[in-house]
Amino acid sequence: MAILKIARLGHPVLLARAAPVEDPTAPEIARLVADMAETMLDANGLGLAAPQVHVSLRLFVFRQGSDEAPTVAALINPELVPLDDATETAWEGCLSIPGLRGAVPRARRIGFRALDLQGRVVEGEAEGLTARVFQHEADHLDGILYPMRMPDLSRLGFVEELARFQETDR
Ligand code: NI
Repeated sequence: MAILKIARLGHPVLLARAAPVEDPTAPEIARLVADMAETMLDANGLGLAAPQVHVSLRLFVFRQGSDEAPTVAALINPELVPLDDATETAWEGCLSIPGLRGAVPRARRIGFRALDLQGRVVEGEAEGLTARVFQHEADHLDGILYPMRMPDLSRLGFVEELARFQETDR
């Protein structure tokens, strides 16, 4: 396994629409997912999408389990749909935009359908923080970064300043 270099805001790979993964069971996909998992845990992220490590493919990894013993799962070729009109606004960060946080509205509940590394269909519903992470990561696959989802850019700032002057939940 290896820790991969993370693309930062301004790199064009972050703005491209990523291509579908043709064979989720290919050894290079398993290796990519293992490296992305190691990279995400090293950087203390909640999720990481392949374009963030300069690979323009439709997959992301996300953190599960407790803070002390996190595990990492991958969703390949994910499709998300909001389950209703309810949205909520909360603070987000992004490993490609280090040091910043922004308040971003997201669907509160989503349905998702994807493939796992065995090529099996994974589907279900998510809400709250998990739904937010999935929407943030799926946006990366379409070249969308969280500030592009913000209706109010006055709620974008550096972590340290927000901690001093605003209530953030993260
Ligand atoms: Ni991100």
